[in-house]
Amino acid sequence: MAAITMKNIVKQYGDGFPAVNDVSLDVQDGEFMILVGPSGCGKSTLLRMIVGLEDITSGEMRIADRVVNKIAPRERNLSMVFQNYALYPHLTVYENIAFPLRLAKKPDDEVARRVKETAELLELTEHLERKPANLSGGQRQRVAMGRAIVRQADAFLFDEPLSNLDAKLRGQMRTEIARLQKRLGVTTVYVTHDQTEAMTLGDRVAVLRRGVLQQVGSPRELYEEPSNLFVAGFIGSPSMNFLPATVADGHLETPLGRFEMDERKAAAVAGRDVVLVGIRPEHFEDASLVSDEKRARGAVVRARVDVTEWLGNELYAYVPYEAPEDLAAQLRDLSRELDSDQLRTQAVVALDAASMINAGDETELWIDTGRAHVFDPATGENLTRDEEHVAKLGRRADQARQAQQRAQRIEPETDATTAAD
Ligand SMILES: Nc1ncnc2c1ncn2[C@@H]1O[C@H](COP(=O)(O)OP(=O)(O)OP(=O)(O)O)[C@@H](O)[C@H]1O
Ligand SMILES: [Mg+2]
Repeated sequence: MAAITMKNIVKQYGDGFPAVNDVSLDVQDGEFMILVGPSGCGKSTLLRMIVGLEDITSGEMRIADRVVNKIAPRERNLSMVFQNYALYPHLTVYENIAFPLRLAKKPDDEVARRVKETAELLELTEHLERKPANLSGGQRQRVAMGRAIVRQADAFLFDEPLSNLDAKLRGQMRTEIARLQKRLGVTTVYVTHDQTEAMTLGDRVAVLRRGVLQQVGSPRELYEEPSNLFVAGFIGSPSMNFLPATVADGHLETPLGRFEMDERKAAAVAGRDVVLVGIRPEHFEDASLVSDEKRARGAVVRARVDVTEWLGNELYAYVPYEAPEDLAAQLRDLSRELDSDQLRTQAVVALDAASMINAGDETELWIDTGRAHVFDPATGENLTRDEEHVAKLGRRADQARQAQQRAQRIEPETDATTAAD
């Protein structure tokens, strides 16, 4: 196992386009790191540079204590699973999993032992003599995974390994991968653009935009304390709502009404004129369902609801609002970049399923304004990120990871040859 350390990594393809632009990222030994971002942001390119399938234009790539910029892929001792994994159709499951060990000319008894262990871990034992064509999609995926982990590599690299599977299987495989990674404790970098995978699989998530690293943190940190507009809009579904607002003395004037700010936030935006206020869908509620005590903690606004969607466990309501044309255009651009189909001059709010709000109603909504973030519309910077809260989340994430490692890690087995010595 090994840490992966990237320092100022740049990748320019032949046409000079910087697909990865000055990325510095430390993946700790045993850590599960997720790389996310919209299509074309450089995720696969970065992964391929770690494995050695792509030359590094500039910067330094270290695996454990070794600079690997010039080291051939097969000497890096890494294992990669691609989106379009290919199994050998004429070989049994057993031989498919054993393949990397055969290449490395391992003795038969070692091959047998490792394949058996791997098959047990992946619940493939009863399928070992079958051919890939006779397996289900999920079983095939597990064979591909088995081939990657049988080799006891220093790190696993996954490039959207589940994107070929249907939703249900994806869910199953997701939990399986998470469990497996925790048990094996092997450093893992996992590329996805699936929200759920990004939020649930990793210890930390790195968000890329046009080749530039935006933020690295625990899923919770990215969700609760995004460092800029892009991360705020990218993480979470439905996306965070962004409302244009003017800064007044200690509060914000938004198209939906007045948002009070606490002292910390008021100080952070003092002297500004126009800002963007970010508020997540779940921080709205049907005001008629909110206790007086809760009411006092936020703002109650009157709004006209355009469309409603009752989903059983919650109710989405779409609330259009007015925005100045320049900001509306900016929000549209952001929306396009995020591959979002959300129209940016309407708020999407997630209410309690008990709400009786109907499309066309003019209604009272409660907003948990204390949870709002304020962004600089020019730079996208989150002006009100709470560094104290960030530090607290960081410590919590570290503790959780250590506890999990203690509980689930399998002790690395002693190699048969060393044990005999
Ligand atoms: N061989 C290549 N030659 C030139 N440009 C390339 C090459 N491969 C990728 N690119 C460009 O580099 C950028 C990053 O591509 P990359 O495949 O890393 O994106 P990605 O984040 O993995 O996207 P996706 O989610 O669609 O897989 C893209 O703009 C792409 O057009
Ligand atoms: Mg890709």
